[in-house]
Amino acid sequence: MAGGFSVSGSSGTEFEAKITPIVIISCIMAATGGLMFGYDVGISGGVTSMDDFLREFFPSVLKKKHEDKESNYCKYDNQGLQLFTSSLYLAGLTATFFASYTTRRLGRRLTMLIAGVFFLVGVIFNGAAQNLAMLIVGRILLGCGVGFANQAVPLFLSEIAPTRIRGGLNILFQLNVTIGILFASLVNYGTAKIHPWGWRLSLSLAGIPAALLTLGALFVVDTPNSLIERGRLEEGKAVLRKIRGTDNVEPEFNEIVEASRVAQEVKHPFRNLLQRRNRPQLVIAVLLQVFQQFTGINAIMFYAPVLFNTLGFKSDASLYSAVITGAVNVLSTLVSVYSVDRVGRRMLLLEAGVQMFLSQVAIAVVLGIKVTDRSDNLGHGWAILVVVMVCTFVASFAWSWGPLGWLIPSETFPLETRSAGQSVTVCVNLLFTFVIAQAFLSMLCHLKYAIFAFFSAWVVVMSIFVLFFLPETKNVPIEEMTERVWMQHWYWKRFMDGDNHHVVANGGKSNGTTV
Ligand code: BGC
Repeated sequence: MAGGFSVSGSSGTEFEAKITPIVIISCIMAATGGLMFGYDVGISGGVTSMDDFLREFFPSVLKKKHEDKESNYCKYDNQGLQLFTSSLYLAGLTATFFASYTTRRLGRRLTMLIAGVFFLVGVIFNGAAQNLAMLIVGRILLGCGVGFANQAVPLFLSEIAPTRIRGGLNILFQLNVTIGILFASLVNYGTAKIHPWGWRLSLSLAGIPAALLTLGALFVVDTPNSLIERGRLEEGKAVLRKIRGTDNVEPEFNEIVEASRVAQEVKHPFRNLLQRRNRPQLVIAVLLQVFQQFTGINAIMFYAPVLFNTLGFKSDASLYSAVITGAVNVLSTLVSVYSVDRVGRRMLLLEAGVQMFLSQVAIAVVLGIKVTDRSDNLGHGWAILVVVMVCTFVASFAWSWGPLGWLIPSETFPLETRSAGQSVTVCVNLLFTFVIAQAFLSMLCHLKYAIFAFFSAWVVVMSIFVLFFLPETKNVPIEEMTERVWMQHWYWKRFMDGDNHHVVANGGKSNGTTV
């Protein structure tokens, strides 16, 4: 029965739902929240490799960069410089706890609006920065925006999408993240030639995605789940009719109402999250995010220009290599949009595991042989090979861990713990993004080429986890995960022995038998 389409569990007929234009448009607009996240991820690496920027804020790094005696791998090893990149993620993870409250109480839509406003103010501070303090304050405000946006957007997308294309629509978030990163690296490529204020332009152009998200949040409707959760039943039903393109929404409406009734009984969502029956979702959400960061992706996304520069590429070549990896990232995410609801989540993650492992090992070997402390004479052919391997790695990340790290947690938590669960997801993501941002340049300095072997070992661990512990969630309606996924899983079913989950899974209509 698990995986079946028409009948599932108790209430599990596939709900009637057309793919309506309003769903598609709402999702496209909401997903612009990802643009901003991506822009922030992508912009800092290029900016930190610009001499004008370093001269103004980090003169000691500039001096080191142009001195010959410093080891190649250690040129950029500076805590302050890493803090410029990482402070955003630290602020973001704090903000997610407030965002959990606002997504529940004020709704997904207003939370996106709050994010947009944080972004706009942050951009102003950054673009106008006169000193390091202003620069960091700007990054902190942007981080708050990321905390709010990454909380609300994936939930919004998962809740508004019809089940059979939920994966594809949710990936619009990640697609926007990758477009944001690419846009940022293109901007850096252009502004690096504008002296001495090109970096200012790089930071200010973040205003474009910020404005898009703010406008988007003004125009979209809130999700039926969120409206119903806040007691606005009639409005919720009306929205449901509108987005599903049919008047026959009673079954889905009832299921959401029931899920929301259960949600109302939960007074302490975070404490509730720790209950035994929520263990599978919690463990999976946390580990997916930890693993996502330990693929090493952000070593590339943040520091590609710096990394390529370290390997002896000239400034220009470093920046356009970052553009190439950024483009591969976007295109490969499209593969995922297409295939996630067809081949499923597990298949994508497992295939990518093999591809990421092989490419990282290849990078480690080439660097180990060719780049020594004092010489960066990676020949032309080898340099191309490294770029190709980096692209192979990025491609596989982009159709697997990138989108699925966000998709799977947002679709597996029941409504009662969905906001809290999502904030833990975002928080863990940002925490580990922070760790990588803060540590990568120092790790590169100490571990040198072996850093890629380090990440490849993690890829093995995460692939084994997927193989045994990650159930397939493709085509399962979101309020039916407990019964159709967790209760069927060889390992996780042991956490499902309480009575409570029946209430959620069965919409309270029966004691677990077919209605
Ligand atoms: C990750 C980011 C990463 C991006 C790369 C996202 O899913 O959360 O940390 O920079 O993918 O495309």
